[in-house]
This record gives sequence, structure tokens and C-alpha cells, in this order.
Amino acid sequence: MSYTSFIELAKERFSVRQFDPSRPVEPEKLEAILEAMKIAPTAANMQPQKVKVLQTAEELAQADEISRCRYGAPLAFLICYDSSGTIKRPGLDAGVIDCSIVTTHMMLEAWELGLGSCWCLAFDADKARSVLGLPENIVPVAFLPVGYAAEGAAPHPFHTTYKALDDLLL
Ligand SMILES: Cc1cc2nc3c(=O)[nH]c(=O)nc-3n(C[C@H](O)[C@H](O)[C@H](O)COP(=O)(O)O)c2cc1C
Repeated sequence: MSYTSFIELAKERFSVRQFDPSRPVEPEKLEAILEAMKIAPTAANMQPQKVKVLQTAEELAQADEISRCRYGAPLAFLICYDSSGTIKRPGLDAGVIDCSIVTTHMMLEAWELGLGSCWCLAFDADKARSVLGLPENIVPVAFLPVGYAAEGAAPHPFHTTYKALDDLLL
């Protein structure tokens, strides 16, 4: 897929909730998504992101224990941060913001590569901790299945239901 502008890509992307489980993600595409993850901006450039790649049969079974939202994807990421290396303000750990930017980078890079994804908050962080043996300082923020969309996969009908610009401006 080739885009002439960011806005074109951003408008076309939608959350894919039906993947083709028989079509693996090529290693070079996985590498490109990880590069997008690596170069994401983070508060004070602390780069606290820690990402678990789940793609073997055993890892995908672990993914299904953690979330009901793999949607048949042959690849999933658990995007976490290391809380021992984040910027903190009263009531706020920038690790959550950092991981949100990281996940957005990964999601948009995937789309440019012809791959779908779906950002999922619906995962069990405690389960992730026990299943993957994550230490206390590693905090999961997002679960992101990635893969080729199954034939017929379509955006949710509300995908293009946007609030009016005036409603979004203060
Ligand atoms: C922070 C966040 C959490 C989300 N959690 C889920 C989820 O748990 N399960 C799911 O199927 N989609 C989830 N989504 C996808 C949203 O429902 C989707 O992005 C939104 O409806 C807009 O649709 P679009 O992505 O197709 O434009 C999440 C998206 C975001 C940004």
C-alpha cells in the first residue's frame, strides 16, 4: 500500500476484528513494526516500552489466556512499560502515555504495510503477569493483535461516526 499523505492513511485505517489465521506476518514486516515501536517519542526520551511478541503456537495460546480479542490474528503484541524508568507526576505515570504513542506507531505502521490491527484494552493484566511471568515493574498497557484481514473483514458501522469538530474544540 502506498500513501501520499498521513491523513489518507489515518482515514483509511480501521480496527480489524477478523484476521486470516492462515497467513503469517512476514519477518520483515514484524521487524518494521518493531522499528516503529523503537522510534516512538517518549517522555524525556526515557524509552520505557517493553513489548512481548506472541507468535508461536504456545505464545498464541498464552495470548488467548490474556485476552479474548485476538480475533484469529497470527501475531499479537503486549505493549508494556518498565515503571522503574518512567517520568512521573502526581497522579500520573507517563509510561501509559508513552505506551499509547508506541501502540499508535505500531498500529499505523502495520496498516501502511497492508496489515490490520485492533488496539485492545480488553485484556487481563494480572493474567498477563502470571502467564508471561512479568515482574512487578512491568506494566501492561495494550494488547495488539496484528495480521492480514480475513476476506470480508470490514470496519464497524460506527467507524466513520465522528463528533462535529466544534464539539471537540474548547
Ligand atoms: C484505548 C483503546 C482501547 C480499545 N479497546 C478495544 C477492545 O478491548 N476491543 C476491541 O475490539 N476494540 C478496542 N478498541 C478499538 C476501538 O473500539 C476503535 O478504535 C473505535 O471504535 C474506532 O474504530 P476504528 O478503530 O475502526 O476507527 C480500542 C481502542 C482504543 C484506542
